[in-house]
Parts: sequence; C-alpha cells; structure tokens
Amino acid sequence: MSPATDAPVRARFEAVWRELAVIGDGGAAGYHRFAWTAVDLELREWFAGQAALRGMPCERDRNGNLWAWWGTPGPGAVVTGSHLDSVPGGGAYDGPLGVVSAFLAVDLLRERGVTPSRPIAVVDFADEEGARFGVACVGSRLLTGVLDPGDARALRDADGITLAEAMSAAGADPGAIGRDDEALSRIGAFVELHIEQGRGLVDLGAPVGVAAAIWPHGRWRCTFHGEADHAGTTRLADRRDPMQPFASTVLAARDVAGHLGALATFGKVHVTPNGTNAIPSRVDAWLDARAPDEATVHETVSAITRAAEKAAAGHGVRVEVHPESYTPLVEFGVPLRDRLAATLGGAPVLPTGAGHDAGILSSHAPTAMLFVRNPTGTSHSPAEHAGTGDCVTGVTALADVLEDLTRT
Ligand code: GLV
Ligand code: MN
Ligand code: MN
Ligand code: MN
Repeated sequence: MSPATDAPVRARFEAVWRELAVIGDGGAAGYHRFAWTAVDLELREWFAGQAALRGMPCERDRNGNLWAWWGTPGPGAVVTGSHLDSVPGGGAYDGPLGVVSAFLAVDLLRERGVTPSRPIAVVDFADEEGARFGVACVGSRLLTGVLDPGDARALRDADGITLAEAMSAAGADPGAIGRDDEALSRIGAFVELHIEQGRGLVDLGAPVGVAAAIWPHGRWRCTFHGEADHAGTTRLADRRDPMQPFASTVLAARDVAGHLGALATFGKVHVTPNGTNAIPSRVDAWLDARAPDEATVHETVSAITRAAEKAAAGHGVRVEVHPESYTPLVEFGVPLRDRLAATLGGAPVLPTGAGHDAGILSSHAPTAMLFVRNPTGTSHSPAEHAGTGDCVTGVTALADVLEDLTRT
C-alpha cells in the first residue's frame, strides 16, 4: 500500500489509538488495566462505543467477553480481535493493537465495498493476562471449558477478592460462567492480530508475519516456609530464612533454562511479613516456564524444583511447588496459516513464546495469528512499541485476510 492510499487509515488509526491510550495509562509506570476494575469497565465502554459508532450490535457473553457484530450473530462467523487488559506496568500494544486493528479492518472492508458472505465479529477477550487473579486467558479458557467455573470463581487477587466478587461488583454474573457452546458454535474461524513480542520480524525485515506455533508454557507457585525472627538478634546459624533458598532457586532457574534451551522467570514474589528488619516466615514466588516442546518445559520445572528442595533443605526451610496453569504446545493449523501467508504475498511464518487467546481457541476452531513488527522486541513493559506505519500495514493485512475468509 502506498503512503498516499494509506493516509485515511493512518488518520483513523491515530484518532482511535489516542482515545484508547489514555485509559489506564500510568505514564512511565506503564499501563495497569486489570480485569473487572474501574479501568476495565472504562475499556469495555470504549469497546461498546466503537461498536456503536459502526452500527455493530455489541454483546457480553456469559464469560465476560465482548463481541461486536457486522452481520447477524450466528454460526460460521469470522472472528477477529484480542484483549484490552494488561500486565502490571504493561505497554500500550499487547492486546489493544488487535482490537483497534479489528475495528479499523471493518472500516476498510466497508470502504472497499465488501459484502461479507458470513458475519464478522470483533472480540475483546476478558482477562487475557491473568494479572489480577493469576490465571491467564480466563475469558477464552472459560468459553472453551478448559477452566472449571468453580475454580475460576474462587481465584483471589492480592487483596483477597475472589473473581466471583469482582465480577459481581462490576455488574456481571459469576454464576453464569463456564463453557459456552452457543458462543463457540458461532466461531467459524478466529484471527488474532498482535504486536510481536520479540525480534523475529525485525530480524527478517518484515512488517507483518503469521504465527506458526505458541510454545507450551505454564505458571508454578513456589512457597518457601521458614521462621520469622529478628534481623538484629538472630544468629545466622539459627535462622530458617526462606529468602535464602528462594534466591538460590532464582539463580538455579537461569542455569537450568540455559542448559535446556528453555525460559524460566520469577517475576512475582510475596514476602511475609515483608518487613525490613524481620527474617521472613514465608516467600511465595511464581515461576513462569516456557520451551519449544512440552518435555523440555516439564524437565525445566522438575530441575528447578529439585534445586529449590536442595537449597531449602540446607536452610531448614520447607518448599512446595504447585502448578497454577498450563498451556500445551499450540501448532496453528497449516491450511489457514498458509492461506494467510499467501494472501499477504508470502509473509514470514514464525513461532512465539507468548501466550494468546488464539492458542486457547485453536483446539475449537480454525485459528491463526498475525504479528506486527516491534522495533525493539520489548513487551510487557512501557517501552513496548510499534511504528504507526507498521500498525497501518497490520490493519490492511487483517482486512485482506478477512476479505479473503469471508469471500465464500
Ligand atoms: C501473556 O502475554 C503471556 O504470554 O504470558
Ligand atoms: Mn501479554
Ligand atoms: Mn496479548
Ligand atoms: Mn498474552
């Protein structure tokens, strides 16, 4: 697309992006857009507003996901979109780029005079990041039945508020959550556009790519039980300090991951009682582990668990490691993936280590993803960025793909 012809898309992109960007923006501290908070409700209002502007009826399904329809809601729809929530201190693009691009692709198709042969839906999946309740992709996991509704209702945030309480306070019915066959039956195909969260496209010199696979990944809670005591009076030899084996475990995780070709991250820690002058009684830390194949993920977690147990024993500390969520390897279906790549004139096809709702949906409907180049490869950080030119190319690519998929 030439700069002259993409000017209207660029202007629309900038206008919509500006409006969305202010919601939940913490400036240098990044975005804090957590599920079922006041900020989330503002994001949902923004979504409904965008749908209304386009005359697209908007509905919230039983699991809190939002759907805006071009055409009569029904089976076989081509669905596109992503999520609007963020990690703590997140960037502007992870999630929202897919939702904004979806609305703008609808605009572009209408401008082209396209009459889709099947309905098109724009979706905003609830709580993709799991930043508040610890489990990622809650909306799509509930929709597809891979998350038990009772377990979901009982999830607690850092203040002890359950997901059920948070949903009720936000005007949603937690009693209605769970596998939704009617909503699922409407999805003929799902295409999620997302900012790339690494440097694959930068290295390839391509603005847009197609996803091949999502690495298997999961979250494990590691709890180190020690004994609280006085920082100034307790001899080193008498301490049962859980921080010590935790620190060793962090270092061991890096070594293990390096040896096995995996990724292992401790990004969240709760220290009890969390006082400068108190030896902690307990450290809870969350391990995020990912690898190209499932055996390597499990081997990584087993080796880190063994290292934690050994370190804990050396300090008179007890450690427990519990799985909290797990997503198996996702290999996107080759026919749809290749169709997208061909529609885009031979776009590169590449894997990712990041999780997405598309991964959850892939076992229920033909599913594919488009990635938009991220110049620094940084994500889950306020530094996350995509150039406006590449975002516009992404919108056009998504419109091309939707046009192709709704032609017959
Ligand atoms: C979410 O973006 C994840 O990959 O954890
Ligand atoms: Mn993310
Ligand atoms: Mn995302
Ligand atoms: Mn994600």
